[in-house]
Amino acid sequence: MTTVYRRRKRQFLQLVLTCFSCCFILIYWEQLDVNVISHLKSYSYRYLINKYSFLNDSMSLNKEIAARLHNYQYLITHENKCQDQDVLLLLFVKSSPKNSHRRDAIRQTWGNEQYIYSELKAIIKVIFVLGIHKDLSQRKRVQRNLLVEDQQHSDLIQQDFYDDFHNLTLKLIFQFEWANTFCKNAKFVMSSDDDVFIHTPNLINYLLQLDKEIMNFWIGRVHRGAPPIRNKESKYYVPYEMYQWPSYPDYTAGAGYVVSQDVAVKVYKALMTLNTSLYIDDVFMGICAKMMEVPPQNHIYFAGEGKAPYHPCIYNQMMTSHGHVKDVHHLWREATHAKVTSLTSGFWGQLYCRLIKVFLLCKPYYVDTYPCIAAFS
Ligand SMILES: *[C@@H]1O[C@H](CO)[C@@H](O)[C@H](O)[C@H]1NC(C)=O
Ligand SMILES: *[C@@H]1O[C@H](CO)[C@@H](O)[C@H](O)[C@H]1NC(C)=O
Ligand SMILES: *[C@@H]1O[C@H](CO)[C@@H](O)[C@H](O)[C@H]1NC(C)=O
Repeated sequence: MTTVYRRRKRQFLQLVLTCFSCCFILIYWEQLDVNVISHLKSYSYRYLINKYSFLNDSMSLNKEIAARLHNYQYLITHENKCQDQDVLLLLFVKSSPKNSHRRDAIRQTWGNEQYIYSELKAIIKVIFVLGIHKDLSQRKRVQRNLLVEDQQHSDLIQQDFYDDFHNLTLKLIFQFEWANTFCKNAKFVMSSDDDVFIHTPNLINYLLQLDKEIMNFWIGRVHRGAPPIRNKESKYYVPYEMYQWPSYPDYTAGAGYVVSQDVAVKVYKALMTLNTSLYIDDVFMGICAKMMEVPPQNHIYFAGEGKAPYHPCIYNQMMTSHGHVKDVHHLWREATHAKVTSLTSGFWGQLYCRLIKVFLLCKPYYVDTYPCIAAFS
């Protein structure tokens, strides 16, 4: 009797649970659809089908129309910036006209060209890339300040389009156009944001170690098989007409990526043939690179949206970290302090850092920072 009763009870419980799950799924179907289904679709497309036929006419433009679309006037530029110099890295920082404080902080810290030259004997050019202020009532004043700022530092370039999130692809074109026109002698080109911290000494040392003839080089935090977001509420909403495929090609997060000179040339060529309505600039860069058959390489110490933990054992290897505005000076002092090397070298230093990094990066829950494997590199 009792076993039958128990079995019935279990069956009943199972039934209730199943019903409950079904209700739950039905109620939250939309969110599930957005998050799970689109990722499933995207991954299967990326890894099973993977025929991005970007060259079909839906994204290409004829040359004249494309040329007209990209034709914005230069308001501030520095044509001789790279002339007759052996430039290792041309480093673009996407900035907004009003963010002069951020630019100053960068000039005084990781973007200090003189520091890099005196410490590492490498020539880098840090250039802030701007559009025009969108608000007409403030534009004149902001523009006047920009001209003063540029007279002092000679490191701004500006084109005549609204500086807006939805115009980031125009800014992408601006960067590659400028690099291809005025700084063809730079070995590497980087794009980043003004709220990103770049450990330039680590980065420069890394670039100096690479093969001098390196080609097809594109490195950053790689997103693989990311689906386009079809939810109209999202900042990254992309309608079907703009992008028809269920998955984006692999691309590096716009917060910081580096390409070799030949890739900068190829991407620029591709840019000039495409409809630029897709405003997510890093995805767009991915599309261009895919057209040119340049695959991105992931580097575990490049951050996407994530922020590096504050610790000398991390500073030792970090390349980029996202979301730094107020703490740039502090982080720069700490990250370049002599104690970083002394603390992290030698057998005991390395062992200590391995443990610290496992503790900082390998959490049982998700933290947006470097991946756990970075602790073992
Ligand atoms: C381009 O490809 C997409 C998706 O595969 C397809 O829906 C569209 O019709 C194609 N467009 C042209 C013009 O071939
Ligand atoms: C992008 O810039 C162009 C040129 O200034 C402007 O017409 C357009 O409205 C801008 N787009 C957005 C979304 O601000
Ligand atoms: C670019 O694509 C958009 C759809 O995303 C379309 O509305 C627009 O007309 C296209 N532009 C050109 C110049 O073909």
